[in-house]
Amino acid sequence: MASGNGSNFEAIVQAVQSGRLGADIPLLVVNNKNCGAHQRADRFGIHVEVVDHRGFPNREALDRQLVGLFQSHQVDVVVMAGWMRIVTDVLVDAFPERLVNIHPSLLPSFRGLDAVGQALQAGVSISGCTVHIVTADLDAGPILAQAAVPVLPADTHASLSGRVQKQEHVLLPATLQQNAHRWRQG
Ligand code: GRF
Repeated sequence: MASGNGSNFEAIVQAVQSGRLGADIPLLVVNNKNCGAHQRADRFGIHVEVVDHRGFPNREALDRQLVGLFQSHQVDVVVMAGWMRIVTDVLVDAFPERLVNIHPSLLPSFRGLDAVGQALQAGVSISGCTVHIVTADLDAGPILAQAAVPVLPADTHASLSGRVQKQEHVLLPATLQQNAHRWRQG
């Protein structure tokens, strides 16, 4: 699942293609039709479903649509790779401990929107990224893995984001591979 640029999605695809991650990617779901993630999936020949949140009366209805899609593709694990919508129990309960998110901070610090901005604002000298299981509490589910990055005095939002993202692209595929045994069915 992705909403934006899709660099984490591409990192997963590349890990699969290079054999570092033993997985199939049956589909990408995006909520923004023209997002970078969609374009990347097209480039790799991966099936995309556009599920635009603006066409649903509430978050639960959106998540019901997602659950139906994932079930019809028989997915074992769902990765939120920059999915910029709050998910509900409808999705969480359909994939218990099988819904994974990447967040650009060392949780439990800086939950929610603009974690990089929050870290800069707080003046921390170390930040990073976290891969975690999604529960009903925003950015608060069990942590699977983290990577730390230094925050430098001259950092801007862009420079720190870039450093965090470099780590995300390594951490997310590696964590999926490390935990794959939990998710394989049968
Ligand atoms: C990442 O920084 C991730 O931590 C956050 O959203 C961003 C997505 O970036 N959840 P991209 O679309 O994968 O490039």
